[in-house]
Amino acid sequence: VQEELSLKDRVLQLKKEKNAVILAHYYQEPEIQEVADFIGDSLELAKKAAATTADIIVFAGVHFMAETAKILNPTKKVLLPDLKAGCSLAESCPPEAFQKLKDQYPDHVVVTYINCSAEIKAMSDLVCTSSNAEKIINSIPADRKIIFAPDKNLGKYLIDVTGREMLLWDGACIVHEAFSLDKLIDLSIEYPKAKIIAHPESESHILQVANYIGSTSGMLNYVKTSDYDTFIVATEAGILHQMQLDVPHKTLIPAPAKEDNSCACSECAFMKMNTLKKLYDCLEKEGPEIRLEEELIEKALVPIKRMLEV
Ligand code: 13P
Ligand code: SF4
Repeated sequence: VQEELSLKDRVLQLKKEKNAVILAHYYQEPEIQEVADFIGDSLELAKKAAATTADIIVFAGVHFMAETAKILNPTKKVLLPDLKAGCSLAESCPPEAFQKLKDQYPDHVVVTYINCSAEIKAMSDLVCTSSNAEKIINSIPADRKIIFAPDKNLGKYLIDVTGREMLLWDGACIVHEAFSLDKLIDLSIEYPKAKIIAHPESESHILQVANYIGSTSGMLNYVKTSDYDTFIVATEAGILHQMQLDVPHKTLIPAPAKEDNSCACSECAFMKMNTLKKLYDCLEKEGPEIRLEEELIEKALVPIKRMLEV
């Protein structure tokens, strides 16, 4: 009987009936990750979106991720449980202001982090994610100048690792800028054997003390394959769910935030706007749906395709 089924079972049933696929980012609530067909970092999710044969894609993530799925699947229905699930990085880069910068430096190659709007992607030569950014920058001929947007922290990190000069947009992720270096150092004194792992959206002073820097999938892989047992994890706290499942015997400590909050760690309020109930409702109503103009899709697809080809 329908009433007796749990919300989770109802989602799974509806997903089957509608030939839908649920793609979830690691920062989503555990109960959303549990109903997902695939959980991944931004690059893996984009690749899954490009390859799916489902009729409906439910994107349990934030707006720019669902937009990317729509750009890759213009004829499919792409749903996002809460359309207000944005991203501080995407918001930091409005198209008009970005166009002005581009006009000032017309000879520069424009590389944008996938955490930006479809409009910004349409103005880019190449898109990248945190897991392929270094490779993408290295694929650009050495004599070409580069504009990198919108994440200045990832940009600074890329300048360091590639040795390339880049003009950086002044955007940042509110979650990764919230880590406290002082508290992190105190914690590593308390746990001297712990390895610090950090996402490259974190500030330089956090990255300087990190033993490993990588995307969410990169961090998961490092923890799984490392001989060490204790890790201080500097990224959004949602990743701890999958990480702990992968390494049940290891100790995972969330990197502390500057301001004390309820979980004493960093959570992305945008990612957490999606709930299992909203996911069920959006599958049932087949909305909210991501809708983009055909012309915008065509333009934004070019740099995404180039990224997938590198
Ligand atoms: P990745 O999962 O690609 O590392 O991205 C992290 C992030 O902040 C997504 O918004
Ligand atoms: Fe954007 Fe940061 Fe949230 Fe990722 S964690 S969606 S980069 S605000």
